[in-house]
Amino acid sequence: MKGKDLLGLKDKTKEEIEEILSEAATMKKHITDKTKKLPYLNNKSVVNLFYENSTRTSLSFETAAKMMSAVACNMSVANSSVSKGENLIDTGKTIDAMGFDIIVIRHNMSGAPALLAKTVKAGVINAGDGQNEHPTQALLDMYTMKERFGALKGLKVAIVGDVKHSRVARSNIWGLDKMGTKVFAAGPQTLMPAEIEKMPVKITTVEEAVKGADVVMGLRLQLERMAGGLIPSVAEYSKFYGLNKNLLKLAAKNAVVLHPGPVNRGIEITTELCDSSESLINTQVTNGLAVRMALLHLLTRGEQK
Ligand code: CP
Repeated sequence: MKGKDLLGLKDKTKEEIEEILSEAATMKKHITDKTKKLPYLNNKSVVNLFYENSTRTSLSFETAAKMMSAVACNMSVANSSVSKGENLIDTGKTIDAMGFDIIVIRHNMSGAPALLAKTVKAGVINAGDGQNEHPTQALLDMYTMKERFGALKGLKVAIVGDVKHSRVARSNIWGLDKMGTKVFAAGPQTLMPAEIEKMPVKITTVEEAVKGADVVMGLRLQLERMAGGLIPSVAEYSKFYGLNKNLLKLAAKNAVVLHPGPVNRGIEITTELCDSSESLINTQVTNGLAVRMALLHLLTRGEQK
């Protein structure tokens, strides 16, 4: 992997993505073996700097760092000097002055991790920035698909729902295209981003997207990022764009369902489908730990070019 940071998948090569997924497979074996202490990050330190709430990403990075023997810290932004007006660059310089090796940042502003990365000596991992990218989520999604189907090349993936607000969708589109996966997206026109035309994805109806798909990925309806008026009603959205068992009948015989979480049950996916044997939502969470362990190792092992 090149560079000290992971900011997105748009700028990563197929070979770099393959390297991360291969390293994640090694880490998954440790998880399967229930090994709780590994030496990979001896003498390293990692801080979580989350300006937005998180369960999966934050907890898995903290767990990954601790399992691999790093000094692992969570900076509670709400209780930090950010509340006194400290800006991101000064917060970054403060963290840098304490000698942290890796800063894992989630921020509501697109581009915040890139700005931080330019400012600090530490490696920066983007844990989700605004409506830009969520590369570690897409990597764990790709790992989950590869684990199930053996390869990403030639798979058909349908991404359904609120694409406009989804950094998960953007990172998956950039990453999957590089791996030779066919990516389709469907959702209300008001929830499609303007720049989608320039991305390597086919926009179509829900039925066309899901037809013959190997992977059907639901997206969380991000009502908190909407000023209002983008959908007539949640019930109507659910009727036309919600994932359910009936819709899944259009997909390939062994199709699987992914969702990045947290799930709005009964809105973007039915509880029946969410908890079905086709759903890999919990597997995604386990694989998130493996992928984040892999990234922490790759970015701290001192061989980046
Ligand atoms: N998928 C995801 O980013 O979940 P969290 O917000 O819980 O981290």
